[in-house]
Amino acid sequence: MNSGGKNLILNSWTLDINIVHHAQKMHDLTSQLKKDGRSIGFVPTMGALHAGHISLIEKAKAENDIVICSIFVNPTQFNDLKDLENYPRMPEADIAFLKSAGCNLVFLPTPAEIYPNGPELLDISFGFMEETMEGAFRPGHFKGVATVVNRLFEIVQPTNSYFGEKDFQQLAIIRKMVALLNHSTNIIGCPTLRESDGLAMSSRNMLLTAEQRKSAPLIYKAMETAKEFIPHQSPAAVIELVKRYIQKSSYLSVQYFQLVNPDTLEDIKNWEEGKPVQGCIAVLTEGPRLIDNIRYE
Ligand code: PAJ
Repeated sequence: MNSGGKNLILNSWTLDINIVHHAQKMHDLTSQLKKDGRSIGFVPTMGALHAGHISLIEKAKAENDIVICSIFVNPTQFNDLKDLENYPRMPEADIAFLKSAGCNLVFLPTPAEIYPNGPELLDISFGFMEETMEGAFRPGHFKGVATVVNRLFEIVQPTNSYFGEKDFQQLAIIRKMVALLNHSTNIIGCPTLRESDGLAMSSRNMLLTAEQRKSAPLIYKAMETAKEFIPHQSPAAVIELVKRYIQKSSYLSVQYFQLVNPDTLEDIKNWEEGKPVQGCIAVLTEGPRLIDNIRYE
C-alpha cells in the first residue's frame, strides 16, 4: 500500500525531471517505487536523442506510472575506438528533450558506476544470433550491449523496457538475454521512426555530410522497392537487386543485405507462404555506418 508521506515525496519529484548519476541511488529510488506499487517504464539510450527515441519515451509514458531514460555511451559495445570517440554527446539538449516528453528520471552514470570492477563482459553465449550480420562486422558488439543492458536492468528494475525495431538484431539479442537470465521486465519492441524521405532516424545521421545525407534515403527506398519482386524473384536475386540499387550512389557501399527469419535470424533460402522475412542491411559511407531493416510479409 502507498503511504501518504511517501507519495508526497514522490509527487514533488515527479513534477519535474530528475537526474541521477549514481547506480546505488537509482536502485534505491526504483526499489521504493516498486514497493509503492508503481510501474516503471525504462528506455535505455546512448543519447543524442531524436524523435525515434522520444517515441519510445511516449509509449513508456502511456503504459507506466514512471518513465526512466538512461543515457550512457557504452564503451564495451564499440569495437572501433574512432566510432566511440566520434559518437555525438549532448546531455543538456537531451535532458531538455526528455523533460518536454514527460520523462520523470534520467540516469546519467559514469563508466565507473556501470563497471565498478572494470568492463567485465557478461559470460553468456548467444551463438549464431551474435555472430551473424552486425555480429560478423562488429565482433563482440552484442556481448557489450547485453552486458550493459543486463546491468541497467539490475539497477533500474523496470516493469517494462522499450527498444526500437530499428536495431532489429539487438532487440532479438535482448529478448534472448532476458529469457536466459530470467529478468522479470517485459521487452516491448517499437516501430522505426523515419525522416520524411524514408531515412531511419539515427543519432549517427548528424555525422553525415550533405552529399551522404542526400543519398542515404536510397537505403530504405531500395528495400521498399524489393517488395515488387517478392515472391517472383528468388531471395538471392532480390538481395542482388537491392545491393545494385544502393550502389548507384557513389557515397554508399552495402556491407551486407540479408533476408532472415525474424526469430532465429537464419538466412532464408526460399520464400514460404505465410512466413514473414526480415531484410536487414548495413551500409558504409565515408562517415558513419548506417543500419536499417524492413519486414516482408
Ligand atoms: P541508441 O542507439 O541510443 O538507441 C536507443 C533506443 O532507441 C534503441 O532501442 C533503438 O533501437 C531505439 N531507436 C533508435 N533509432 C530509432 C528509430 N529511428 N525509431 C525507433 N527507435 C529507435 O541502441 C542503443 O542506443 C544501445 O545499444 C543501448 C540499447 C542503449 C545499449 O547501450
